Amino acid sequence: MTRTKPTVVVTRKLPDVVETRMMELFDVHLNVDDKPFSADELAAAMQKCDVLVPTLTDNIDKAVINRAGPRLKLIANFGNGVDHIDVAAARAKGINVTNTPDVLTEDTADMAMALMVAVPRRLLEGAEMIRNGQFKGWSPTHMLGHRLYGKRLGIIGMGRIGTAVARRARGFGMAIHYHNRRRLRPELEAEVEATYWESLDQMLARMDVITVHCPHTPATFHLLSERRLKLLKPNSYIINLARGEILDENALVRMLQEGTLAGAGLDVFEHEPAVNQKLLAMKNVILLPHMGSATIEGRINMGEKVIINIRAFCDGHAPPDRVLPPAT
Ligand code: DGY
Repeated sequence: MTRTKPTVVVTRKLPDVVETRMMELFDVHLNVDDKPFSADELAAAMQKCDVLVPTLTDNIDKAVINRAGPRLKLIANFGNGVDHIDVAAARAKGINVTNTPDVLTEDTADMAMALMVAVPRRLLEGAEMIRNGQFKGWSPTHMLGHRLYGKRLGIIGMGRIGTAVARRARGFGMAIHYHNRRRLRPELEAEVEATYWESLDQMLARMDVITVHCPHTPATFHLLSERRLKLLKPNSYIINLARGEILDENALVRMLQEGTLAGAGLDVFEHEPAVNQKLLAMKNVILLPHMGSATIEGRINMGEKVIINIRAFCDGHAPPDRVLPPAT
């Protein structure tokens, strides 16, 4: 028996192996030039397809969703975060949304550790010193940073990625603390020897390093507001690989300028891809271009998840990674 292939529009270039498999399975429209869609192009694509495969660079708000055609029944996001999609509006229009959890966990946790080591140990400054020919030899006071071992790490958002960071940070000899909507199961809390803080404010005031791993939702926008950032100890560091909007970036910049924070490692920005120019001049800040999960293995796994979600949905099953609107 032959069955009609669903029409699938992919908004960005994906790894070749993923695109090739999609070509075999679906009537797929690829974006080989990788030029991001405008809102009109997005709406036009959503008029003609059964399934849209967007990424975090597509702003799929209520207005765009309302322009979708009647065929569109699934938005199979290539990515974990879905804050660029109005999931409630999609649901109201009978459109399902899926994402690609799990497969980015380990890569993102690795990058959190990389920043957590690199900022207090001044890795970028050291590498630049060598590259610029400024290394004149060792001395006892040369390039002193701060020790990670024995320090307190406060994890905001103890889901898959937060937990993977906790496991790694234990290996670095850090004491694990966390704030999360729900407390972990006792076995898991015991495994990573984590201390739970119901009050984020209280946790912030006691930590040496803060790392952010919660999703961006209306409830977490500026969760780290100016008031909360000011609770941090002046010798503490902040790492963010989740979403820029969770942190009040202007307040962070002011505090870094005043020296009321020791440093920051940022992989995401409030107005991405724009980066606050003041951050660029700061030696105690490492900025990365949203590459926390950027491994070829991870991207292929993400593509496989997208394909599985589409196949399951088109075969009449519940897609494994269905996303529900955030709780209000
Ligand atoms: C995601 O999938 O949400 C990540 O931010 C991409 O790296």
